[in-house]
Amino acid sequence: MPVQHPRRHFRPLFGRRSTSAPQDLSAPAPDRTAPVRRSAPSHPSLMRLAASLVELCEAGQPADEVLREGLRKQPGVTRADARIVSHAVFACFRWHGWVQEEASVEVRLERALEFAATFAAQSAAISDTELAEFTVPAWVREHARIPLATLRAWQAEPVLWLRARRGQAADLAQKLERAEPGPLPDTVRYAGEADLFRHPLFQAGELQIQDVASQAVGLVCAPRPGHTWWDACAGQGGKLLHLSELMKNQGLIWASDRAEWRLKQLKQRAARAKCFNYRAATWDGGPHLPTRTLFDGVLVDAPCAGLGTWGRNPHARWTVTPADVRELAAVQVKLLTHCAASVKPGGRLIYAVCTLTREETDGVCDAFAAAHPAFVPSAEANPFSPTQAPRPRQLWWPHETGGNGMFVAVWQRTA
Ligand SMILES: C[S@@+](CC[C@H](N)C(=O)[O-])C[C@H]1O[C@@H](n2cnc3c(N)ncnc32)[C@H](O)[C@@H]1O
Repeated sequence: MPVQHPRRHFRPLFGRRSTSAPQDLSAPAPDRTAPVRRSAPSHPSLMRLAASLVELCEAGQPADEVLREGLRKQPGVTRADARIVSHAVFACFRWHGWVQEEASVEVRLERALEFAATFAAQSAAISDTELAEFTVPAWVREHARIPLATLRAWQAEPVLWLRARRGQAADLAQKLERAEPGPLPDTVRYAGEADLFRHPLFQAGELQIQDVASQAVGLVCAPRPGHTWWDACAGQGGKLLHLSELMKNQGLIWASDRAEWRLKQLKQRAARAKCFNYRAATWDGGPHLPTRTLFDGVLVDAPCAGLGTWGRNPHARWTVTPADVRELAAVQVKLLTHCAASVKPGGRLIYAVCTLTREETDGVCDAFAAAHPAFVPSAEANPFSPTQAPRPRQLWWPHETGGNGMFVAVWQRTA
């Protein structure tokens, strides 16, 4: 006998009404008679732990931090246990729109796990109407037009992407279990369960954990060996290490960030990756630049509202606000404006954000372009679709790439 779908019919939950028209409801109705796989019976003590971590997230701490700290402090929690707990906590936020009005965290977790299992067994069991209504908060529709295919991709478990040394993707994939080369040079899709941070290949700097869309940003930058680059928001160095690899460790990259602790992490990662052609300096994003150097290329991988990461980080769907979007868009324009002075004539300025709102992406580009006529849009090939006509602004959707959503724009300085 088919097991019942957790919610057999689409209806607004507990009297909640749709606040705007769903985006694209042309897809066929789901097969409601299809059998539904229920989640495996969960260990009560692990579910209690998951519930306590969900409560911490709801009190305002980011989920990844809560999981890292919460699981580290638990005596006797094995790696397998930690995976179960993480899966449950992320499921709770991934399916939050469906389960948020349940009375207790425990019931929400249980229901969210049922939705996750249902979706994994047969994604069409969740209708487009429900996806449009419940995947993200209603305010998002005013700021971004997110395709249904991306909403659907966000409800699945995210892919873990690795970056191999140049030309080593096939070799790396062979050395790891359940790994295969990805769609871009040096990308590897990993489905194994090893703790990669402890893996000897990671310790030896032979692999980086880096989303495929972030790797595509490095390919758009395409720095040449011997060139001089500035990675203005270098953070913990994900893109810096890629730029250095593409430059064959030759030339110089300035790495700046306002967070000193991130630059410390960057230095550790750079040492492991044997990346030596960089110099790190704190910079608060203001008009006092860390250097007077004029660069062949400047990458502004700016702080953003992060909508593009909502597949990997579903908790953020419910914490980001429209005020964050407005504030961050203004910060992005400021960063681009200050960095522009450091691009040499003929050099390129690259703006990258893992977000999807119009105010950030196109809004920021329009504001920057209007004030900087010496910067002309530079059409670039799309790394995911090299036969497409090159374009100066590109948005890579998660359902197309299997990675984070990412927006990139490129300008060249004329005089
Ligand atoms: C998207 S993250 C960078 C990620 C990094 N490029 C990587 O690939 O790993 C944005 C970074 O901007 C930094 N940031 C935020 N506000 C800033 C500001 N006003 N000036 C400079 N950096 C800032 C943050 O500390 C954060 O590390």
